[in-house]
Amino acid sequence: MTTRDPGRDPGRDPKSRDPKSLRSHRWFGVQDLRSFGHRSRVRQMGYAAADFTGKPVIAIVNTWSDLNPCHAHFKQRVEDVKRGVWQAGGFPVELPAMSVPETYAKPTSMLYRNFLAMETEEHLRSNPIDGVVLMGGCDKTTPALLMGAISMDLPAIFVPAGPMLRGNWGGKILGSGSDVWKYWDEKRAGTISEREWEEIENGIARSHGVCMTMGTAATMTAIAEVLGFTLPNASSIPAADSNHPRMAGDSGRRIVDMVWEDLKPSDILTRKSFENAIVASLAMAGSTNGIIHTVAMARRARIDLGIDDYDALAREVPVIANVRPSGQFLMEDFYYAGGLRALLKELGGKLDLTQRTVNGGTLGDDIADARTHLPDVIRPLDNPVSSAVGLAVLRGNLAPNGCVMKPAAAEPRLWKHTGPALVFRDYNHMAAEIDREDLEVTADHVLVLQNAGPQGGPGMPEWGMLPIPKTLLRQGVRDMLRLSDSRMSGTSYGACVLHIAPESFIGGPLAFVRTGDLIEVDIALRRIHLHVSDEEMARRRADWVAPRPHYPRGYGALFSRHIGQADEGCDFDFLQAGEAVPEPEIH
Ligand code: FES
Repeated sequence: MTTRDPGRDPGRDPKSRDPKSLRSHRWFGVQDLRSFGHRSRVRQMGYAAADFTGKPVIAIVNTWSDLNPCHAHFKQRVEDVKRGVWQAGGFPVELPAMSVPETYAKPTSMLYRNFLAMETEEHLRSNPIDGVVLMGGCDKTTPALLMGAISMDLPAIFVPAGPMLRGNWGGKILGSGSDVWKYWDEKRAGTISEREWEEIENGIARSHGVCMTMGTAATMTAIAEVLGFTLPNASSIPAADSNHPRMAGDSGRRIVDMVWEDLKPSDILTRKSFENAIVASLAMAGSTNGIIHTVAMARRARIDLGIDDYDALAREVPVIANVRPSGQFLMEDFYYAGGLRALLKELGGKLDLTQRTVNGGTLGDDIADARTHLPDVIRPLDNPVSSAVGLAVLRGNLAPNGCVMKPAAAEPRLWKHTGPALVFRDYNHMAAEIDREDLEVTADHVLVLQNAGPQGGPGMPEWGMLPIPKTLLRQGVRDMLRLSDSRMSGTSYGACVLHIAPESFIGGPLAFVRTGDLIEVDIALRRIHLHVSDEEMARRRADWVAPRPHYPRGYGALFSRHIGQADEGCDFDFLQAGEAVPEPEIH
């Protein structure tokens, strides 16, 4: 993988910009008291004038932390990026940012996506930065970094963390998340021992890098690539592969030229580039979280995109990436099969290949010579992984603003189902009840979780794959219809209806469902219906007492006041596209 020579791009002559037009010139280039201070403080760090004078200042926003195993290699990768920046004639500066580890952040990493987006934007705004390398990958970090960079609109390139190596246990391949849920159910059903469970714990995460199933990390880094934010195939390279540091160095070299070319997010993002990203995500059976993040990113770019765009494209795009949880293989196999470039090549006519990328050319240029090496991992369009639609957006009296489901990840008998509700008023209620031996539940029941949305969770946690009750597990039941206003991990599976909007915590209809009510879901009709009369719903609404907000102060209080609903991308109202924020005065 090499970067394209931007000198071949007419009208984009590198180094054609006057260094005095660089944003950082306002800090370093003028001759006054303030700039004396700025320059002397660079020299304080041991740099000479030749190191930084007249050079693009490249921020490397690094989401490394000791609590983020997915980004454990970023300490080294940042040096690889810096090497590239120096070689290309830039001045690299590392800016640490909130790590948002999916593995540890409570109550959910989603609470902090917008925090990192704000931090990224303000890092770039307040400092002498001309271009930025964004280092992320663990779930929320990718959309957060991109949202901040889109709003700031400086030249930006994304370095994805890359997937970890395949898991291994007892001769079996293990996939992040998916096999945790699978073997946890087996443990609860009594079919594997404590010792075997510990062996799985040792074998499931074998290297640094992000989850190697088609979870949110793999989905969002692929979306970043299709939107044009990475070098070609960057999102598919396993974190432990030596191609990964080479890609990081290439990205460092490329961002310097991007600054001279003044190639910004607003130059590459269009409605078509977002549609391309949706098509690729659907073809990979990507995480449902990607829907929320894509809508949020598009709105930052002032592009009108909604969940119905996903549904319309889902009817045309088959799943061709044979990757768990919807398929058989893992991201390491996907890379050996040709990676995202090969997948995009297979999708061919379903994409607008004229869209621009950070590489200086078009998406079509980037995949021109791509080939599929393992046709069972990346299938041709006429041999999809599943005939089922990868994603469906449902509407009805229970979800007036929509909800989503992944039919391909559910048992087909549940694509059209009517059953009695079994309602849990919140997560703790569900956790206390679900394994009770005397729980009155059948495989036909519809499990309902309330108060798990953006405000209710709080933060819309990944609780949407409600556990199958233990009594049913013993009977061999492995899938049921489950409804909530929460999200679910991209590594999860099952007949889970998610993102119900508006959420129950703010008085959405989900708040008024009671145990025993009949609920109907029909994927073909894209319908979700609560069989309760309008009059009865009005009575229940009148009796409803709004729950108290979770947070009396702090970031949580700000979050609760300003967070949008799932169909709106869960961005803060004050961060969505509006009037441009003025550049800071240099006094
Ligand atoms: Fe970091 Fe899955 S926990 S990507």
